[in-house]
Amino acid sequence: MIALLNRYADIIFFALYLVVLGAFALHFVGNILTGRAYKRFVLWQWPAHEEIIPPAPKIMHAVHVICMVFLAFSGFLIRFPITDRTPFRYIHYVAMYVVGVNFILRVYYAFIRDKKEFTLTFQDIKAMPATIKYYAFLASDKPHLAKYNPMQKMTYGIFFPLLMIVQGLTGLSLVWPKTFLFIFQPLVGFSGAVAYARLIHYIVAWLFIILTTVHVYLASTEGFSALLDFFGIVPAEHGAHGEHREHGVSEHATYEESHLPEKPVILEEHFEPGLGEVHLPETPREGDYEGTSSEGGFPSYPSEPPKPSEPPHSEDEI
Ligand code: HEM
Repeated sequence: MIALLNRYADIIFFALYLVVLGAFALHFVGNILTGRAYKRFVLWQWPAHEEIIPPAPKIMHAVHVICMVFLAFSGFLIRFPITDRTPFRYIHYVAMYVVGVNFILRVYYAFIRDKKEFTLTFQDIKAMPATIKYYAFLASDKPHLAKYNPMQKMTYGIFFPLLMIVQGLTGLSLVWPKTFLFIFQPLVGFSGAVAYARLIHYIVAWLFIILTTVHVYLASTEGFSALLDFFGIVPAEHGAHGEHREHGVSEHATYEESHLPEKPVILEEHFEPGLGEVHLPETPREGDYEGTSSEGGFPSYPSEPPKPSEPPHSEDEI
């Protein structure tokens, strides 16, 4: 049963990801046809940002991105091994602790400094349809209420933290099933609970990849200049009173009202590919998900010969 669900998850998410990539390719054609791409990437007119972002959130974001790339690559090489899984497990285990600590620090920072940026207001909810219209090319401008638009607030303030918590808990359940999954033991047994935790972990991994692809696409097409500044690649110009302005237009102005930058800057070669370009290797082997360890340490894969350092397989197969 769980093996079948894993197969469905593989097929559905690989196919869905192709659909997502196709949708963005189409959307970018829309950006070209409406002249948005020309105005941004050729004339270098980007929405202005009023404030200087302090180093702490930038550093935490960079640590998070690096860890997520390592987690995604190592995770997929654990699931679809092309060679020995052990080194990828160690990479995954190191990155998971770093990303976990970084996430806790970011939540703490949000509470003491910038939680307002992520708090959805009634005004935001009212502005949502107009924002969607802009992205669907049904309007030439979008409402500007705050640093983040309503969809960004929902993604960064709700979806993303929720996914991190589920991913962290399911991941830790794979290492310490007796601590994290004991309430499911009477229902499906420990190895059943571990197998479901692994499936959920895999589904959430895909949701992260899809969300990150959306994030990278929109950050590149809607705010590439701010993106370069955020990663410290090309600092944006700062105004005289601590105001942070970039080449291009104010978010409030239409493009027609704006002036051209003195000199267009072409910076595409600095762009780093995101998670959307994760290369996925071969499909899982038969029997990869049918048995699991319930003792902690590396969850075991029945298709591998047991290693002396690994805990024995659990008796209660599902
Ligand atoms: C947030 C903290 C995370 C923790 C605590 C965590 C933990 C784990 C653990 C313990 C395993 C089992 C490794 C093994 O078999 O030895 C695993 C597998 C995996 N992880 Fe993570 N992980 C985290 C985040 C992520 C992220 C962000 C991704 C991808 C975007 C990811 C993708 C995967 C995948 C694809 C597998 C293989 C699942 C399978 O075998 O079906 N993980 N993770």
